[in-house]
Amino acid sequence: MLRLRFANILVLVGGLVGCEAPDPTEHEKLRLGQALFEDGRFSADGKVSCASCHRPAHAFADTLPRSIGAFGRETRRNTPTLWGLPTDLPLMADGGVPPLKNGSLSVLAALTAHGDMAFDPRSLNQKLKTYPRYHQLLGRLYPSTDLASAYLLTLHRYLLYLSEQGRQASIRNTSLNPPLVAQGKALFEGEAGCFRCHNGEGKTDGAFYNLALGNRSKEEGRAAITLKEEDRGRLRTPVLRNLRKTAPYFYDGQAATLQDVLEHYQQGAGEAGRWIGDSLQKEALLAYLLTL
Ligand code: HEC
Ligand code: HEC
Repeated sequence: MLRLRFANILVLVGGLVGCEAPDPTEHEKLRLGQALFEDGRFSADGKVSCASCHRPAHAFADTLPRSIGAFGRETRRNTPTLWGLPTDLPLMADGGVPPLKNGSLSVLAALTAHGDMAFDPRSLNQKLKTYPRYHQLLGRLYPSTDLASAYLLTLHRYLLYLSEQGRQASIRNTSLNPPLVAQGKALFEGEAGCFRCHNGEGKTDGAFYNLALGNRSKEEGRAAITLKEEDRGRLRTPVLRNLRKTAPYFYDGQAATLQDVLEHYQQGAGEAGRWIGDSLQKEALLAYLLTL
């Protein structure tokens, strides 16, 4: 007798209608991804995990201007949110890491770019072999690759999951439309000029600008990648999502509140120009930013 389990039926139906078959191990892969994301043993001092800085309670950002990495070292920049990260966005403030849609190699590039965990990806295979539980699970879930690649695939899948879930949550939030928020949205997309750079998925155009913020003499910005002098100090338009949970702001965390951010735009923000709004407009813009 032909007996089909539910998962097989889904695969069968998926095949018939020509869409991708759902992966019956999806749930396990996500749980493993979360475990790896929260495990500090992969850093050089054995104490710092992805979640030490990308904290789930703060939309996978944290509350410090700069975070603390392995051996107590401060990160170069403020930790950004990963909840709802657009998958086609070049990653890091200098755009030096390819977008998540490029696959698990972007995770390898991200880890290398970090430096914060003081972790050498070349030792991954060796390290994973010493943890029997990971060894066994990764081997079973990704039978045709080596352990290090399986680790990267698992983290990649988890990041895509955070991206998708965060995006859904953001769509629900921004559909809230009381009058003040609606007024703020109209300003953002119109008169205040924010939309020129903060447009597209996650409210970022993925391009690089210098907003003439103080204390930035050491910030190479995009020039680190392009080696062009005019790109010195230019940083990628950040994702505007989960702002109510991700203070402080700007890439060095120098703005403690969103009011401080708007204050900078009101004083003149380099390539972003100057926005002069009255206090009511400012209040509306703030109300809107808090829904993103
Ligand atoms: C010590 C703190 C710290 C740890 C640990 C850490 N990160 Fe990050 N993460 C950062 C900072 C700071 C940035 C921004 C760096 C930049 O723009 O130059 C960042 C950026 C990112 C980005 C790009 C986001 C964007 O908007 O471009 C991804 C993806 C990411 N981290 C994933 C991870 C993963 C996965 C781990 C664990 C393997 C991890 N991070 C561990 C602090 C940390
Ligand atoms: C010319 C492009 C441009 C324009 C116009 C612009 N921004 Fe930005 N925005 C950026 C860049 C680039 C940064 C990061 C600056 C840095 O830290 O160096 C930024 C940072 C921010 C942040 C902080 C995000 C975080 O998580 O740290 C907020 C909030 C913000 N912008 C809101 C606005 C609003 C509101 C307007 C309109 C009044 C606006 N922006 C206009 C490019 C722009």
